[in-house]
Amino acid sequence: MSDEPLGLDEAYSVKSPDDNRRLYAKWAATYETSFVDAKQYRYPKAIAEVFNDVVGPVTRVLDIGTGTGLTGMYLLRLRPDLVIDGMDISPEMLAQAQSKLRQDGSAVYRALFERDLTRAVPNENPPYEALFSSGTFTHGHLGPECIANLLPLLEHNGWLVIGVNNEHFESRGFEQELASLVDLGLIQSPEILRIDVYEPGSVHHGDQARVIITRRRK
Ligand SMILES: C[S@@+](CC[C@H](N)C(=O)[O-])C[C@H]1O[C@@H](n2cnc3c(N)ncnc32)[C@H](O)[C@@H]1O
Repeated sequence: MSDEPLGLDEAYSVKSPDDNRRLYAKWAATYETSFVDAKQYRYPKAIAEVFNDVVGPVTRVLDIGTGTGLTGMYLLRLRPDLVIDGMDISPEMLAQAQSKLRQDGSAVYRALFERDLTRAVPNENPPYEALFSSGTFTHGHLGPECIANLLPLLEHNGWLVIGVNNEHFESRGFEQELASLVDLGLIQSPEILRIDVYEPGSVHHGDQARVIITRRRK
């Protein structure tokens, strides 16, 4: 194996849930140092900021594709009273998220669940008031068809704030999937924002993601 750190090339070349399990098992311990810090990846922070700007008062929320827990960590700085659970396919990434702490030393995440979000998602908790996601709707990870898997996890009128890789959004037809969910009466007509994924100064600065903002209807 090459000594080069894992990065976007490896992340974008996965094709299946098993590929994702293998990639993130290898990457979990160095994901933040070799990628997030090295490339000045601001996606988790940006999703936390959008959530804070658009979502009304809520308490129980769920992080979709939690990874090492950066989105929950940033969101709690803006909304310290939130109770955040997380779901991800990788136990190694979830173990990193489990170790994220609030300033008072308590855990950022109340509970974490190993789930493959490409399938119907078992949920042992009452439906959540809001879901958010950063970096997980991307090449070879979650496609537009997975949005429908998330809806049963949400209360009626519950919020979705979902970041989607720009090219993936266009090539995989997110717009059409959202239109069909609206037609079926399952979600409200979404608002789509654009955010910067990397800080100024990053080699990837200029790459943007879409953010889907909508609410569950029935
Ligand atoms: C690029 S990381 C993003 C993590 C975190 N949200 C962030 O922004 O730093 C993508 C995450 O998606 C998770 N993932 C990939 N495929 C998945 C699947 N089928 N079901 C659930 N999670 C998946 C990976 O394990 C990984 O933690």
